[in-house]
Amino acid sequence: MRAMTVTIVGSQLGDEGKGGIVDLYGDDVDVVARYQGGDNAGHTVVHEGEEYKLSLVPSGAIRGKVGVLGNGCVVNPRTLFDEIDTLQERGLDPDVRIAERAHVILPFHRVLDGIEEELKSETDDEVGTTGRGIGPTYEDKAGRRGVRVGDLLDPDVLRERLEYVVPQKRAVVEDVYDLDVDELDDPDAFDVDAIFEEFREFGRRFEAEDMTVNAGAFLSATIDEGQNVMLEGAQGTIIDIDHGNYPYVTSSNPTAGGAATGTGLSPGVVGDGEVIGIVKAYLTRVGSGPLPTELGGVVGDTPGYDEQGEGENEELANYIREEGGEYGTVTGRPRRVGWLDLPMLRHSTRVSGFTGIAINHLDVLAGLDEVKVGHTYTLDGEELASMPATTEQWKRCEANFKSFDGWPEVDWADAADGGYDALPENAKGYVEYIESELDTPAYAIGVGPGRGETIVREQPF
Ligand code: GDP
Ligand code: IMO
Ligand code: MG
Repeated sequence: MRAMTVTIVGSQLGDEGKGGIVDLYGDDVDVVARYQGGDNAGHTVVHEGEEYKLSLVPSGAIRGKVGVLGNGCVVNPRTLFDEIDTLQERGLDPDVRIAERAHVILPFHRVLDGIEEELKSETDDEVGTTGRGIGPTYEDKAGRRGVRVGDLLDPDVLRERLEYVVPQKRAVVEDVYDLDVDELDDPDAFDVDAIFEEFREFGRRFEAEDMTVNAGAFLSATIDEGQNVMLEGAQGTIIDIDHGNYPYVTSSNPTAGGAATGTGLSPGVVGDGEVIGIVKAYLTRVGSGPLPTELGGVVGDTPGYDEQGEGENEELANYIREEGGEYGTVTGRPRRVGWLDLPMLRHSTRVSGFTGIAINHLDVLAGLDEVKVGHTYTLDGEELASMPATTEQWKRCEANFKSFDGWPEVDWADAADGGYDALPENAKGYVEYIESELDTPAYAIGVGPGRGETIVREQPF
């Protein structure tokens, strides 16, 4: 059966190149919907030689597809309109629809994100968030005190919601964190009138441009009309709030289950389609938390994990970081680097039920004599094929490495033209090892950032 939905899921710690794969398969798509996260994401798409960095607007919008921000997203309208306006200045006309059920990131959420990280940093426990207010917004969603996009359209409801929540946040700052709101950088972030004025204006723009939708109904109707829908995950499995390494996680579900709850499409619809896991050929991580296959040379004083300090493989980590341009799209932070981790990928494959994978960044590893992967872990004398459930256990896992002979640097655009057979032999061996361990075919292989530098072996639609 022809797939009607293709879901794109990060299999690792984010930044696997999801945006590029969404773009690659975007031609056959009518609508691209994000199902979770907010402007903590940073997706890079290269189109006609131009590089676009998007945080909130779904990647498909670059190619004139309808982009939907599903109910599982948290939306900062300041960022959204900045991005839309910037794309318009670059000559594009993005068509973005926002779920009325999506939650709104309000100014105090960002402030609270910063305050809590600061407090945790006193004991080296900070998560290393992107500072976008993601966690505090999802907290208020779960706490039933959030403001939803639909509320911005109704001044009475908006005011009522703000009058309930804002004084609580003010009290948290003053009575829990013992800070003076008026001495914060942005005291207006805790002012009902200031927030009301600004966000009511956003509501008017949403209305004037007819941007809000009932996402589930909209997407179901799209599918009923025989159109194709791509569900674009942000972040990745190991920073999933349920299946990742809690508490060093984001506050949503990037895994495939999130695609159903975060759009209003049923699990059956998502499950009838393809679920493609995006795999970077090595690992990167921004923010804190363990990483059993980490190459030495943790950048600076990586919060919460400085005992790794400077490792013997620091030079290699630096090399890969520079070759891969591994600096955060959103925050510019240098990414930590590690070898591919198979227990992690076996876990991700099970959680989301990948029907296919895309392996990116094979070109970055070219030229190394040896490429290693963490094949299994040893924990308390036992060999593990998949990740343990607690972060404390994961931190104690020692990776058992498998070694591959490296592959040479070649002209990757040519190699991509030549298809899979044109890949260097050892690179093929690496791909086939991953496919066989995960029992999942590689639909696409990325050998460079551009669309023409991807080998496409399967068209999921
Ligand atoms: P996302 O968050 O998963 O969408 O990924 P990011 O855009 O944050 O990070 C991926 C980066 O790698 C971007 O700069 C891409 O242009 C780039 N990229 C994607 N695939 C490849 C690849 O196969 N090789 C190389 N060298 N770069 C790639
Ligand atoms: P894309 O979509 C990589 C990380 C942060 C931090 C943790 C929690 O580009 O793959 P948050 O601000 O979400 O509360 O931060 O999650 N993080 C990401 N890491 N790629 C991302 O998105 C990320 N979004 C959040 O660094 O460790
Ligand atoms: Mg990214």
